[in-house]
Amino acid sequence: MKSTIGYKTAILLLWVWSITTVKAEYLEREVSLSVPPVSIAQWYKPLNRRQQFLHTMFSLRRSMQAIEEYVVLEDKNSVERWSAEFVKRYRSIGDMVPEWFDELELEWIDKLEVAVASSEWGEVTEALRKIDMSCSSCHKEYRATTVALYRTPIFDNIDVINSNTKEEISFKDAMKALVVSMNSFKIAYDDKHQERAVERLAVFRERVDALGESCQECHKNDGAEERILGEQTEEMFHELKLLAEKGDSKAGRKLGELSVVMCARCHAVHRTVADLRSIISR
Ligand code: HEC
Ligand code: HEC
Ligand code: HEC
Repeated sequence: MKSTIGYKTAILLLWVWSITTVKAEYLEREVSLSVPPVSIAQWYKPLNRRQQFLHTMFSLRRSMQAIEEYVVLEDKNSVERWSAEFVKRYRSIGDMVPEWFDELELEWIDKLEVAVASSEWGEVTEALRKIDMSCSSCHKEYRATTVALYRTPIFDNIDVINSNTKEEISFKDAMKALVVSMNSFKIAYDDKHQERAVERLAVFRERVDALGESCQECHKNDGAEERILGEQTEEMFHELKLLAEKGDSKAGRKLGELSVVMCARCHAVHRTVADLRSIISR
């Protein structure tokens, strides 16, 4: 059977499709992000003693779940108790961040209170469902940017001190120096300047040790430094040194492994969000 579109039309369509897709691939894509109103800052450290906004959120989710569980059991007292907590917390969002007042389903909060008082369980569930939509829509728009802006560690004021040379540099400069010293070793090593390579490895090592000291500015004995710059890293540095001294070609791969454990893992936790934060806080 003959196809309904002719052979030439098909070729033409294919051509149009290919140039439009290729074009789309080269187009720069822009996305816009919403950032929360600055009034939210006062509910986060350092302006607040605790991460109060976040704790309000946890409480909202918990009380919502409790209402749902007790509605199933038709336990009126417990529904009332948790509902009081829930509506208080929900309304407090608008007190904390007045700009978000319009994002709230306050009419449904009133309806929820009425439904709870009259034990209309179906209405309670319906009200919660409507209110839940406001949770989701606000989260979709603001949650990630709020975390990036107000809850990610900031490295700007962290200094990295080399206890050997007493050099004291910013965290960013420490990162630059770290990668330079690492590549300096790799270049010397690849070009078979064995003695120089061993020397450069020692400098790199010293920079890593200095970086390790800086973790304590924020991490107090919680093992985070150990996970990234601990025994495993120590062991790898030791092996790397032996390989470098022998001029063994396996040193290149060892350096790769080391940088995954040491650099990539920490970047996965700290660098990407730090970068995101600096992009959106401009
Ligand atoms: C007007 C905005 C807004 C509304 C409405 C809102 N939230 Fe949130 N919520 C946020 C923001 C912003 C965050 C991110 C806060 C953070 O992580 O520090 C968040 C985070 C959370 C978190 C913690 C995120 C997680 O999964 O770890 C929970 C739980 C939560 N909200 C529950 C709720 C519930 C339940 C409702 C509705 C009853 C609700 N929120 C309504 C803005 C809102
Ligand atoms: C400016 C403060 C700050 C500095 C400096 C810092 N961290 Fe963190 N780090 C945090 C916070 C806060 C968390 C908890 C998660 C979050 O909020 O991102 C964390 C989480 C982590 C985690 C994931 C959680 C865990 O316990 O495994 C690792 C791993 C980590 N940091 C490693 C390091 C290492 C290694 C250094 C030093 C080279 C370091 N951090 C320096 C603040 C910091
Ligand atoms: C705390 C854990 C941590 C460890 C461990 C770590 N980094 Fe970083 N690195 C960061 C953070 C955070 C940034 C972003 C700093 C900023 O922009 O202020 C960063 C940024 C960088 C940058 C970009 C600097 C610039 O010019 O903006 C380079 C390069 C870098 N790191 C290399 C490395 C190398 C190589 C290693 C391993 C030998 C390493 N880092 C280990 C956290 C870490």
